[in-house]
Amino acid sequence: MSDPPKRDIRNHVLFEVATEVANRVGGIYSVLKSKAQVTTAEYGSKYTLLGPLNRASAAMEVEEIEPKDPAIVATIKSMGERGIQTLYGRWLIDGAPRVLLFDTGTAYYKLDEWKADLWSTAGIPSPPTTTRPTRLSSSATSWHGSSASVPLCKKRKIDVTTIFTTHATLLGRYLCAGSVDFYNNLQYFDCDAEAGKRGIYHRYCIERAAAHAADVFTTVSHITAYESEHLLKRKPDGVLPNGLNVKKFSATHEFQNLHQTNKERITDFVRGHFYGHNDWDPDKTLYFFTAGRYEYRNKGVDMFIESLARLNHRMKSAGSDVTVVAFLIFPAQTTSLAVEALKGQAVIKSLRDTLGHIEADVGKRLFDKALAWQEGQDPPDERDLLTAQDKIMMRRRLFAMKRQSLPPIVTHNMVNDAEDPILNQLRRCQLFNHPSDRVKVVFHPEFLNSANPVLPMDYDDFVRGTHMGIFSSYYEPWGYTPAECTVMGVPSITTNLSGFGCYMEELIENASDYGIYIVDRRMKGVDDSVNQLCEFMYEFTRKSKRQRINQRNRTERLSDLLDWKRMGMEYVKARQLALRRAYPDSFAGDEAGDEPGYFDGTEGVKISRPLSAPGSPRERSGMMTPGDFASLQEGREGLSTEDYIAWKLPEEEEPEDYPFPLTL
Ligand code: UDP
Ligand code: G6P
Ligand code: GLC
Repeated sequence: MSDPPKRDIRNHVLFEVATEVANRVGGIYSVLKSKAQVTTAEYGSKYTLLGPLNRASAAMEVEEIEPKDPAIVATIKSMGERGIQTLYGRWLIDGAPRVLLFDTGTAYYKLDEWKADLWSTAGIPSPPTTTRPTRLSSSATSWHGSSASVPLCKKRKIDVTTIFTTHATLLGRYLCAGSVDFYNNLQYFDCDAEAGKRGIYHRYCIERAAAHAADVFTTVSHITAYESEHLLKRKPDGVLPNGLNVKKFSATHEFQNLHQTNKERITDFVRGHFYGHNDWDPDKTLYFFTAGRYEYRNKGVDMFIESLARLNHRMKSAGSDVTVVAFLIFPAQTTSLAVEALKGQAVIKSLRDTLGHIEADVGKRLFDKALAWQEGQDPPDERDLLTAQDKIMMRRRLFAMKRQSLPPIVTHNMVNDAEDPILNQLRRCQLFNHPSDRVKVVFHPEFLNSANPVLPMDYDDFVRGTHMGIFSSYYEPWGYTPAECTVMGVPSITTNLSGFGCYMEELIENASDYGIYIVDRRMKGVDDSVNQLCEFMYEFTRKSKRQRINQRNRTERLSDLLDWKRMGMEYVKARQLALRRAYPDSFAGDEAGDEPGYFDGTEGVKISRPLSAPGSPRERSGMMTPGDFASLQEGREGLSTEDYIAWKLPEEEEPEDYPFPLTL
């Protein structure tokens, strides 16, 4: 008898399944999009992302192409024969990975069959009512033979190895959103009962089954590893922290210039929004912001607003001449932009246009007068500058800026104005944009977009123009928003309940010097945490421009720590571990850690250069990779506290002389 063909593990293909493929909802989209470049560098056309098809979003983000891989061609064909529509193409992002998106609507007729399947194959119950499209997608994709529906893959012994990376637990999100002392009670929750009470029992079961059935189970931070252990009842094999696709400018001060130009764009908005009230110095104005999916308590918006109120009080009492404009960007249900917000921009535009015309006319008149000037006559003087008509036009514009009401605290008309938690908290704290307030607030209940007539800026540009991002989250498995601030050189405040905050706290000893402020929400009572947040903000308002510029330089230097070129190594390790677990025979004689081999990346064929460690001084000494925080090694049972290794960023001298001009 001849031996069965040897499995070609080296030529495996990689599918990544998620609901946010080419479809922005929150941070998972940022993971997939920013990671694509390092993954395609490693896998090329053997990497395909699978997810549900959102036609509106795909129309913008995906270019349809003909599949060439015979397996994909056959799969799409066979699904098509069953009426399931798909879109195959390239995601138009760096790395241009292939995507296969499933129109879950065309699969609804299969729903009952799949529910029965889940029950009979994996013992997972489903509710009798309609099931959410997300779950459909995982059924659809598992039908296709990928690893989306992890328990089904396992039960049906499909020839794949699976890694399940949880970016949050459903039950954790729900529990935290209520008023539960989550972290002190993690060990004690009766998960089934709690999920049942919240109407998420079936979805909870699927999540837990996936965590258990996966060959390798991972999550994005240690805090979520701890949560998963107690809520999903499996200790993760390791942590895959999130990275970013860091783009370095050739000139280091370039990001500082971008700050300045984008800050001016924000100032344009502020002038319009606060028309009639612009009695403060734009050069002594600081822009703070917070942003994300609208989860009021989880994102710490309650704490942020309370701290803003205390900051306002403190700045007023101290007679501060600084003004803080705090933006809150959380998409909520709205009917339209508020008339007052539109009017503000229009009034300022008219003023600017009118003054522009007057300026041109004055120039022309002066020129004509100068041309006609004869010796012995007086040169043109200020009486010749403004005509009566100009003065009338100007008065009109000035009167248009009179307003009876205070500048609004929200830019849109809300569907549920009276019950909106942000508006109610602002009202409770009396943050009404009164002239005497040193802290002004603007709630923008829509994600930012350069096509918006009121605040026409894309999110990234907006972040660059601000002075500080504040994310006082209570539930935050990772938290991309402060990480994005960091790589753009914008200081941020986060908490030790967020994955990012904990990660940075472990890495950097004197984090606040680097513009990474971490509020203690673990050991302190709420009131003390609010005060600490207020203190961080107040100290920031006391910095000079030069200190802010210095700090931004230091913040930006942390970018390398968050680069996928570094973080991506954890994904490589997780895949190696999954393959070893699923196909141990293929590794016979290749003991982990003994011989250098393909799967420890030393062979250097597939583990492409972008994944090699970039230069942070510690790392060059061979001491650690982000994975030293985790434990993605065979033979270990999940994480332990020794997996935390603190290290210190080297002290770097501030240059005495600035390489760029300062306008102080
Ligand atoms: N974001 C955005 N537009 C906005 C505000 C936020 O695109 O106006 C993005 C932001 O860039 C970030 C994501 O929303 O990548 C939020 O991710 P995070 O991990 O902070 O939180 P999640 O929503 O996943 O809980
Ligand atoms: C950047 C620019 C400088 C500008 C500064 C303003 O560094 O390169 O020209 O003066 O930003 O900083 P600030 O913190 O006041 O917005
Ligand atoms: C989830 C978490 C968020 C994290 C993101 C990406 O949406 O809420 O904290 O940053 O996933 O991992």
